[in-house]
Amino acid sequence: MIDLSTNYLGINLRNPIIVASSGMTSSAEKIAECEKAGAGAVVIKSLFEEQINLETAEMMKSMDYTAHTDAFDYFTGTSKHQHIDEYVELIESAKSRVSIPVIGSVNCVSPGSWIEYAGRLEKAGIDALEVNVFIMPADAEQDSSSIEDRYIAILREIKRHVSVPVSLKIGPHFSGLANVIKRFENNGANGVVLFNRFYRPDVDIENMKIIPAKVYSVQQEISLSLQWIALLSGELDIHFAAATGIHDGKGVIKQLLAGARATQLCSTLYRNGISHIQRILVEVEEWMNRHNFRTIDEFRGKLSRENVRNPEIFERSQYIKALVGIS
Ligand SMILES: Cc1cc2nc3c(=O)[nH]c(=O)nc-3n(C[C@H](O)[C@H](O)[C@H](O)COP(=O)(O)O)c2cc1C
Repeated sequence: MIDLSTNYLGINLRNPIIVASSGMTSSAEKIAECEKAGAGAVVIKSLFEEQINLETAEMMKSMDYTAHTDAFDYFTGTSKHQHIDEYVELIESAKSRVSIPVIGSVNCVSPGSWIEYAGRLEKAGIDALEVNVFIMPADAEQDSSSIEDRYIAILREIKRHVSVPVSLKIGPHFSGLANVIKRFENNGANGVVLFNRFYRPDVDIENMKIIPAKVYSVQQEISLSLQWIALLSGELDIHFAAATGIHDGKGVIKQLLAGARATQLCSTLYRNGISHIQRILVEVEEWMNRHNFRTIDEFRGKLSRENVRNPEIFERSQYIKALVGIS
């Protein structure tokens, strides 16, 4: 009998498939569908700091509060409360309908005061909190350590307000990625999600306009997180969840072999429907049967840098003839 369960962030999941934060997890009904389709857990659509700030700013624009700063504070607070209230309702309603773990998600760009609301998400019943954080390193005046310090400040602030496990969902744009993840671990993060896939711009050359690039990932994008999870999972205690470019059972198996505790899926479920989870689970089970594995722990991390005979395959980044066989 195959056991697909996995421990992620100290929580037991019935299997390693997590429906990633997206429109697929934006209502209690959709979250219930994820559970029915076989998901091990869900991450709810993010509560966006920037969106809250933008909408509050829009509301403020139409009013003149220069003479009444108390009124300004009141309305700013009310708008934030409304967003948080709706999110809390979503969590409560999802938790009343499903028994799989429900992970909340907040998007942060600053260690601002609104983070104190994270405590309300915890009270509403989230099993863990994923912090979707991205600080665009595009300011030529800002050095990398000051940017990394902001990530740490956000993490510390969140940890002050919640006691549920916390993971950080980050992008790959760090010059000292291994060190920054170790700092996350040292500052209380339970997990890290490698990697988020951000909005990307493209260019329409006929109309000479900036347009959005493709929203969904392609399978080839899996290699970035695969490489980094294989490099770091054996060395650090923090739990790794893999994300981006995982489209089928093979992708899930690859990430588990690299050392991931769980895998987050989004694009493939948008394309193939939520029922695709069942096919993926069957594929993983069939592979485990063929290789005589009964549990995921028997093969997790088997191909991490620590466990392979030629770890340089993960460390090399240039095309060297001996490795790729092309002259
Ligand atoms: C339509 C859409 C909405 C998304 N919304 C969020 C979000 O609210 N919060 C978040 O952390 N990630 C969000 N993501 C990113 C996904 O959670 C996921 O990390 C990303 O799509 C990469 O995984 P994939 O290759 O399986 O698509 C969104 C992605 C898509 C396509």
